[in-house]
Amino acid sequence: MQTAVVAHRGASAYRAEHTVAAYALAIEQGADGLECDVRLTRDGHLVCVHDRRVDRTSSGSGAVSTLTLASMAELDYGRWDATMPEHADDLVREPVATPGRHDRGLLTLESLLDLVADSPGTRLFVETKHPVRYGGLVETALIELLGRYGLASPKSKEDSPVVVMSFSTMALRRVRQLSATLPTVLLLSQLGTLRWDGTLPRSADHTGPGVHLLRTDPDYVARAAAFGHHTYTWTVDDDADIDLCRRLGVRWLATNSPAATAARLTR
Ligand code: G3P
Ligand code: CA
Repeated sequence: MQTAVVAHRGASAYRAEHTVAAYALAIEQGADGLECDVRLTRDGHLVCVHDRRVDRTSSGSGAVSTLTLASMAELDYGRWDATMPEHADDLVREPVATPGRHDRGLLTLESLLDLVADSPGTRLFVETKHPVRYGGLVETALIELLGRYGLASPKSKEDSPVVVMSFSTMALRRVRQLSATLPTVLLLSQLGTLRWDGTLPRSADHTGPGVHLLRTDPDYVARAAAFGHHTYTWTVDDDADIDLCRRLGVRWLATNSPAATAARLTR
């Protein structure tokens, strides 16, 4: 099976991460999937923000959990050029000032689901953040929202339009309790954090090692496959890493540059 391209926080090498503009461009670039991080506002809304605080990615400051949806909606999330130094070489410095699809405002998970609904076949990979501190609220809100879109209980895991991911087994366990059929990915950032033999906890369908782990132990993908687990690898922007993922049979690869990565994969 060919490696599928998942746009990490949207096409975030070219547009501010987690904005409508970043996701619209990812879809335009033909990404197979979209990745997003979700957090809960003080008043219980799921918003697509990576960090605990909004300082890096917006014109405001403060922890998402202390802000209301209304106060977050007043901020500008288009501060990508100044705030993404790790992608600085790749940035195409286009202004993102046109309203509408080039919105630089707050992205709620609900708006992202609306965007995905307009693009059938594009899979959404939702990563839940701060799972420990908020004791299940994020997962409950997520499943409730997905339920409203008819996406919480897919008939088949393989064809589910939504995949839920987390670095926390506890979070995945909660997801599994709320939905038996939503596919899950356990993200891994360190060797040996869990069972590096290729097995996974029961709450995880698939495995999500950072690409740095595959450089160290490329056989991991085959070991996981032997137990029926696909591999989702993040964040893959270098040619050598893209080639490695293709060679190893990685199922999904998260990248900040969907078009360039897809071109490399099909070379
Ligand atoms: O796609 C998984 C990857 O996004 C995990 O790392 O820090 O970018 O959320 P992070
Ligand atoms: Ca993420």
